[in-house]
Amino acid sequence: MSAAWRPPLLEALICVPADGLFRLMQSDIERVLFDGPAIHKRLDEMAAQITADYSDRELTVIAILTGSLMFMSDLLRRIPLPLRLDCLSVVSYHGKTQTSGDVIFKELAVPDVADRDVLILDDILDTGYTLAAVRKKLEMAKPRSIRVCVLLSKRKHRARDVDADYIGFAIDDEFVVGYGLDFMERYRNLPYVGVLRKELLERMASDDSVMLSQAKHL
Ligand code: IMP
Ligand code: MG
Repeated sequence: MSAAWRPPLLEALICVPADGLFRLMQSDIERVLFDGPAIHKRLDEMAAQITADYSDRELTVIAILTGSLMFMSDLLRRIPLPLRLDCLSVVSYHGKTQTSGDVIFKELAVPDVADRDVLILDDILDTGYTLAAVRKKLEMAKPRSIRVCVLLSKRKHRARDVDADYIGFAIDDEFVVGYGLDFMERYRNLPYVGVLRKELLERMASDDSVMLSQAKHL
């Protein structure tokens, strides 16, 4: 039987051991901001605060996909309260590092949060467009209360007047990836949050065919 033809990059990727690929992906990181233990320690503190604040109410968590996946999963397992969980998918970046300002909801229906105590979870508060749009949409369903919880908040002037009630870490205005955060859907599986190398950002933003480290090093 003749071997099926595969594009050269795919062929190369298949031939490199998985741990080698992981190391190549890590080489795209300029520096690590928060490693796994630091993130988990902070999540312990945040979860304790949220648990105390909602001990007398049933919490309804609305997680914004996809970036909040790791954060949601690790945080919620630390909150020993009965709670409801729903997710919303929104797109605002369209693959670039600058937000477009248009927040597109992938679901047509908004979760039914009438009279509920809602906690919105997102990975990062940047310009504020996403959280402002999500908050506004949920407010239309008349919840009893709404709070916002983010893993990261960039210290910068925001395009929208929105703030978070619970913040894991405040960071400088740099593009970060890992622990759920992506650049063009990649790097989400890094177990830490790190700053992506600037030259890589510039190269990838100008040429979509330049993939991550794999393409460059193989
Ligand atoms: P905002 O609407 O500009 O506040 O951006 C919110 C969304 O943009 C987040 O949920 C992330 O998905 C994405 N985002 C903003 N800054 C970063 C970053 O530094 N790295 C990765 N994604 C980011
Ligand atoms: Mg994203």
